[in-house]
Amino acid sequence: MRIAVFAGDGIGPEVTEQAVRVLEKLELPGLELVEGDVGGAAYYKHGHPLPAETLEIARSAQAILFGAVGDFSCDHLERHLRPEQAILGLRKELGLFANLRPAQVFAGLEDLTTLRPEVASKIDLLIVRELNGDVYFGEKGMRTLEDGRRQGWDMMSYAEDEVRRIAHVGFKAAMGRSKKLCSVDKANVLETSQLWRDVVIEVAKEYPEVELTHMYVDNAAMQLVKNPGQFDVIVTGNLFGDILSDQASMCVGSIGLLASASLAEGTYGLYEPIHGSAPDIAGKGLANPMATILSAAMLLRHSLGLEAEAARIEAAVAKTLADGIKGGDLGGSAGTREIGDAVLERL
Ligand code: NAD
Ligand code: IPM
Ligand code: MN
Repeated sequence: MRIAVFAGDGIGPEVTEQAVRVLEKLELPGLELVEGDVGGAAYYKHGHPLPAETLEIARSAQAILFGAVGDFSCDHLERHLRPEQAILGLRKELGLFANLRPAQVFAGLEDLTTLRPEVASKIDLLIVRELNGDVYFGEKGMRTLEDGRRQGWDMMSYAEDEVRRIAHVGFKAAMGRSKKLCSVDKANVLETSQLWRDVVIEVAKEYPEVELTHMYVDNAAMQLVKNPGQFDVIVTGNLFGDILSDQASMCVGSIGLLASASLAEGTYGLYEPIHGSAPDIAGKGLANPMATILSAAMLLRHSLGLEAEAARIEAAVAKTLADGIKGGDLGGSAGTREIGDAVLERL
């Protein structure tokens, strides 16, 4: 069981350290953790945010535990050298097209959210976000128009096979939950979204038991705050899924709580918190490591088939919160290591 550990930048190493402690505590026979450089840290060391050695480590492993990348000191670099290209490159190179971002309110902790508790208490949803296409990976550029104005441009597109494979992931996830799937798009304006909607409707014929609805992304953003309990599985494109998942995290209580799995066909996957490198709190021991610890639990479940161990980690995190041990992101005062200690103790 070889797991690649890519901690990255900012709070990435701080939160990853705690997730690694949790994995080690389980004393899984044959577990081997192999570290690699990504992001700004890799750029400063190797001249590239995703060095060939790192990709090789990724390919030799069964799964990746990923912290975060992003370093404002790299903002002036050409885009292909920026830290974010590490995560985008891994997703693309390894065919990690299906991003699962669950958001669930922890029982008894409805007061963690900025929504009214009775609204938040019903949140138990899964965002299925496409991760290999959309405006993220289209051609892009900067040019000067004939009249001298500068123009930035990014090509948004989805091919039907890309939509079909993520739609299947969405429908299958819905079959395993309450059989409700909401496809989020902007088909009233975008051709990319019209194709998305057409293909999702075609795929729906293979899942007659699933109740499929469609929602425009602007309305979805509003409904997510008004009545998040109406959603079960949401399937959406790369850009919309990025935005809606940060929003869903705040409905639950904090971006420091939301884990994610980025899956290829089969069991291979990359697991990371949905948050970034949080440069504003990096190096201060203030970051909440729970999202990364919960990502490690998803890794055990999806890539290694260790359901019982995954559930143990999730229960330990829930108990830690129930016992009132909270980071600054949740209005508490516990630091990164203290939260890690508390989870380990409960494990
Ligand atoms: P961010 O998620 O890093 O931070 C947003 C806010 O949430 C900040 O105030 C931060 O302090 C807080 N926050 C985030 N994680 C937290 C945690 N675990 N505990 C407590 N507070 C937490 O988003 P940003 O500020 O927009 O981006 C910072 C950098 O991270 C950028 O370079 C961006 O590109 C990068 N980024 C990387 C990833 C990734 O590696 N997958 C994801 C998102 C953003
Ligand atoms: C995320 C991040 C990334 C994304 C960035 C860092 C490329 O925001 O994982 O949510 O936009 O996908
Ligand atoms: Mn994001």
